[in-house]
Order: sequence, then C-alpha cells, then structure tokens
Amino acid sequence: MDLGLRGKRAIVTGGSRGIGKQCALALAREGVHVCIAARTEDILNQTLAELEQTGGKGHTVAVDLTTQAGCKKVVQETIDRFGGVDILVNNVGAARNADILGLSPKLIDEALSLKTYSYLRMSQLVIPYMRENQWGRIVNVAGAAGTSPTRGNIPTGAANITILNITRALSDAVAGDGILVNTVCPGLTNTGRARTQQSARAKREGRDVEELLQELGQELPAGRIAEPEEVANVVTFLASEACSYMFGSALYMDGGKRRATP
Ligand SMILES: NC(=O)c1ccc[n+]([C@@H]2O[C@H](COP(=O)([O-])OP(=O)(O)OC[C@H]3O[C@@H](n4cnc5c(N)ncnc54)[C@H](OP(=O)(O)O)[C@@H]3O)[C@@H](O)[C@H]2O)c1
Repeated sequence: MDLGLRGKRAIVTGGSRGIGKQCALALAREGVHVCIAARTEDILNQTLAELEQTGGKGHTVAVDLTTQAGCKKVVQETIDRFGGVDILVNNVGAARNADILGLSPKLIDEALSLKTYSYLRMSQLVIPYMRENQWGRIVNVAGAAGTSPTRGNIPTGAANITILNITRALSDAVAGDGILVNTVCPGLTNTGRARTQQSARAKREGRDVEELLQELGQELPAGRIAEPEEVANVVTFLASEACSYMFGSALYMDGGKRRATP
C-alpha cells in the first residue's frame, strides 16, 4: 500500500524514547521529515542519529511540553526548518499514579498539564498551517486506561479520557479542512514507562519487573504486552494519505484486554 507520506512534515511529541521514538523512526522510513520534541538533549541526539541512519531528515527541539512557550517553540522550529507541518503525533505522557484513597489531586494536575493541555495546545498551534494546505493528520496517543480505570491509575486514566473527548471535538472542528484527527489507545507497551509504572508493584511483591511484565502479558488474549513498533505502525497508517475516511475514531491496541464493544 502506498501511504502517500513521502515529503510530508511531522512533529512527534515525546519522540525521543518509547512509543514516540518508534513513531518518529517509522514515519522517517516512509520519507517524512520529522521534528522530535522532548526534554533531554543527549537522548534526542541519539534518536536523531538513528533516524538519519534510515536516510530520513530530522530535527530535534529540547523543551518542556507542559508550557505554552515550549509548544510554540516546537511548532516554530518545525516551520523554520521544514517550511510547514502536515502531521502531528501527540504522544507525550508520563503520569504518576497512586491509589485513589491516598491520591493527591496534584498528580492529576500534572497528568493533565503534560498530556491534555499539550495535546490541545499543539493541535491549536498546527491547525492553521494544515488549513493552508487543506491537508493534515493529527494522531493522539491516549491509552486504554482512559476507559478502564482502576483504583491505582486515575491520573493516567483522567488524562487519557480527555484525549478521547478532545479528539472528537477537534475532528468535528477541522474535518471540512481535510484534517483527520484520530486516537490510538495502547495497553501495556514495552517501554521505559511501563517498567517505571510496574516497578512499585514488583518491589512490593518482591519480584523482578521483567517477570511481572511477562506475566501481565500472558494474562491478555494476545499472550504478551505490545511492542512500541506495533503501536507506531498503526500511528503511521493514521498519519497517512491512505487513512482517508476516519474522523474522531479511537483504535484500541490492548492485546484484547478491553471487554466493552466497540
Ligand atoms: N508504555 C505503556 O504501557 C503505555 C500504555 C498506554 C499508553 N501509553 C501512552 O503512550 C505515550 C508514550 O508512552 P511511553 O511508554 O513511550 O513513554 P516513555 O518511554 O516514558 O517516553 C516518554 C517521552 O516523553 C518525553 N517527555 C516526558 N515528559 C516530558 C515533558 N515534560 N516535556 C517534553 N517531553 C517529555 C520523554 O523524554 P524526556 O523525559 O527526555 O523529556 C520521552 O521522549 C504516553 O502518552 C503514554 O501515556 C503508554
């Protein structure tokens, strides 16, 4: 299938590690020029070097995406470097969780600040450029926790459910301009974040975190947790010309865990 991505210009937030990094690499392999945003400069540089090895063209911006100034800097540098922006992958997210009975609202504030507000701000900032070309794709990386809350994951879940709301509302606002807004909801995915999230439980139970991740995967219909490359493949399709009739959809990639249909 020709994805029609060659020469397009993309931003991937939180693109230096984990799912975001694999999205950046997958898009670059399709001939997309990719601007990667995250905070830590040396990790950004390592990812850029990998991206350039694929023959792709990239750029990095070291910013804190919880701020409006940080979001603006990413968009401005992408425009200066590539002359426009066609694709936005909103992926950044790093909520800290705690049991609901002792949960500080501050953790919810932090989760919303990094994920909900940055996804909204970044979308608002890129849409005028996408409208100029009457073409754009915004792909949000939410998470299955948005519709499957537990007593221990409310900050993550609160941020992710707002992304589903924003996806629908934004899609309605820009569908007539050739801009498609959709969301991917991964379940547990093999990244540094998954290890950090499960390490408290592993410690509590006196177990190895790798063994715990394997066991959590075996409980799923898929029999294993997701690899970030698998999420990136779906994101790349949603970012492409080939994805032409999906508006405000949410795709679950949770290894079959979700009981609700759809
Ligand atoms: N892994 C999972 O099991 C899973 C499951 C469901 C949904 N998700 C969602 O998938 C997305 C990616 O998760 P992941 O597991 O790939 O995470 P990850 O491996 O921890 O990577 C997070 C990325 O975000 C960047 N980042 C974090 N805080 C930032 C900030 N304040 N400003 C700018 N950049 C920041 C990190 O770089 P720096 O730290 O250098 O800034 C890194 O590039 C998140 O939205 C997460 O909620 C993940």
